[in-house]
Order: sequence, then structure tokens, then C-alpha cells
Amino acid sequence: SRHFSVSHSVLSNAINQVTIIGGGLMGSGIAQVAAQAGNHAVIVDVNDGALKKAENEVQISVRRVAKKIFKDKPADGEKFVSDVIGRIKTSLDMKEAVKTADLVVEAVTENLELKQKLFSNLDSVAPEHTIFASNTSSLSIGEIASLTKRKDRFGGLHFFSPVPVMKLLEVIRIPETSDDTYEKMMNWGKAIGKTTVTCKDTPGFVVNRLLVPMFAEAVRMLERGDATARDIDIAMKLGAGYPMGPFELADFSGIDTPKYILDGWHKKFPDNPLFNPIPLLNKLVEEGKVGMKAGEGFYKYEKKNM
Ligand code: 3HC
Repeated sequence: SRHFSVSHSVLSNAINQVTIIGGGLMGSGIAQVAAQAGNHAVIVDVNDGALKKAENEVQISVRRVAKKIFKDKPADGEKFVSDVIGRIKTSLDMKEAVKTADLVVEAVTENLELKQKLFSNLDSVAPEHTIFASNTSSLSIGEIASLTKRKDRFGGLHFFSPVPVMKLLEVIRIPETSDDTYEKMMNWGKAIGKTTVTCKDTPGFVVNRLLVPMFAEAVRMLERGDATARDIDIAMKLGAGYPMGPFELADFSGIDTPKYILDGWHKKFPDNPLFNPIPLLNKLVEEGKVGMKAGEGFYKYEKKNM
């Protein structure tokens, strides 16, 4: 069964202050796991609505975590919840929020220019020692870092959804990443309770490079009428031990994400047939049927079906 780390980072020059840019599902989850490990975290987003939503997400999730680790000690659970929430601040001022950061983790929309500009803006205001990291799932860390003057203090920290539950953290080095930066990222990953794996700056790193083409093949099977979505999902759960089938997972995380990942990779690597466009996938996204958040994807969610 899964367990959650509540250890405090003890290393002297370890990361204690983390600023997370982007308070979506990933960003709020990253702030939460950092705060659960004793870090102070600031979530930055562009409006109050987004920050409120992030605070809400953390509230709900940290309560689930507390319920699990303090099953028989509800008072300790309450204290844990208020301590964790007390270590998370929110801000609309990105430049101000990085001034005390040991680590900045960016988790904004998958848009290369947006990310490049963001880091280039932060480069001049963040302290010398601050490490910059991107939680991108499909873009190149080297390209995201390209406008900064701190490529030695730059890397990828790729989390998985739901962040408080999934144990993995992919740590990505670019050729310029210093050994010191790499070690700090690895140590931080362990301090927040994740198991780390290292991967080069290659499209999709390990997990998405394998998951996205697998999902694409599943959609192609469905398109050809080889099997129903339901049967493909059951097959992958009971035949391969996956916790969710490819369509359940896509509906859960949003169908638009793998579509945009595939589009980007197809544009960059037009000769790789794994990344070819899939009419059925494009049609669903065009119609706004992007999964649970829309009430419909590969499945309908009027009635609870999972
Ligand atoms: N916060 C805190 N706790 C949570 C949680 C959350 N957001 N979501 C679930 N949990 C806890 C529950 O409280 C529950 O705890 P319990 O065991 O004490 O009851 C436990 O996790 C299991 O949850 P559920 O009983 O609700 O449901 P499942 O057993 O089906 O687990 C799941 C849900 C963890 C989502 C599981 O189905 C799963 O692992 N699915 C696959 C997820 C996956 O593959 N993620 C990776 C996607 S790829 C990605 O993220 C990359 C990106 O770049 C796109």
C-alpha cells in the first residue's frame, strides 16, 4: 500500500524554500508534497481565482493524506493538516515570490515560449544559488533554459498525477546542469518522499515516452474497431497490471494533454510513425470531449462510471 513521507529535510544546504509557478493540479500537488516534508512553499498564479482553486485542491488532498497516516489519531491529523497548510503561501507577484527561493519549479501550460520568457524574467531577480526546474512533460529542458544565464543551475523535475500519491519523480539533467545542482535535485526528491529516476533531456523522458505512444496505439485500435474502449481498459488492467486502462487514464488526466504532446512531437519528428495524428483523438478534442473535467471523453460521466 502507498505511504507518504513526513520527514523533514535535515541536510544543511538542502532546499527549504520552494516557489511553484502555476497553481494547477500539478503545481498545487508539488507545493503540497514540499510542505508535507517541512518545506515552505509559495504558489504563484495570475489571478485570485486560480490561487483559491489551488488552495482548495491542497485542502482536500492534504486531508486525504492525513486521514491515511493518522488513522487512529485524528487530533494529530488535524495538526498535520494545519501545519502543512500553514507552510503554503500564495502570491500574484512572481518576481517577489522567487526572492527567497532555493528552488523554483515551473508548472504552467505546455508552451515553450511562455516557459522561456518566464525563466528569463526570473533569472535577473532570483538569488544566485536558486535552482530553476521545469515540470514540463514533453518539451525540451534545454530549450526552456536557453534564455537564462544559469544553465548550470537548471534541470527538469517531472511529477506524476496525482502528485501526492504517485511515488515517482523524474530528474532531468541537461549537459550544463552541474553535479551540485543534480545532487540537490535528487536529494530534494528523496526529502519529499519520492523515488527518483534520472533521464536525459529526451522527449517525454521515460514515462511519457512510453505511455503516450501506448495510448496512441490504443486509440488507433478503437478507431479500427478492434475492441471497445471498455475491453481495452479491462485488458490492460487485468492483463498488464495497470491501475487504470489507457482510456480511463486519459479521461482522468484530460485527453487534450496527450493530443498536444503528440502534435508537438509529430511536428518535431515527422518521420516517426508513433507520433502520427489520430483523427478520432483530434475529433474528441475539437468537440470539447476532453474527459472527466468536461463530463465526457472516451466515457460519459453523467452517471458515476468508475
Ligand atoms: N490526494 C491525496 N490522496 C489521494 C489522491 C489525491 N489527489 N487521490 C487518491 N488518493 C488516495 C486516496 O485517498 C486513497 O487512499 P486510501 O488507500 O487510504 O483509501 C488512495 O489514494 C487510492 O485512491 P482511490 O481509492 O480513490 O482510487 P484508486 O485506488 O483507484 O487510486 C489512483 C487512484 C492513485 C489515481 C490510481 O488509479 C492510479 O495510480 N492511477 C494511475 C495514475 C497515473 O498513471 N498517473 C500518471 C499519469 S502520467 C502523468 O501524470 C505525466 C504528466 O506529465 C501528464
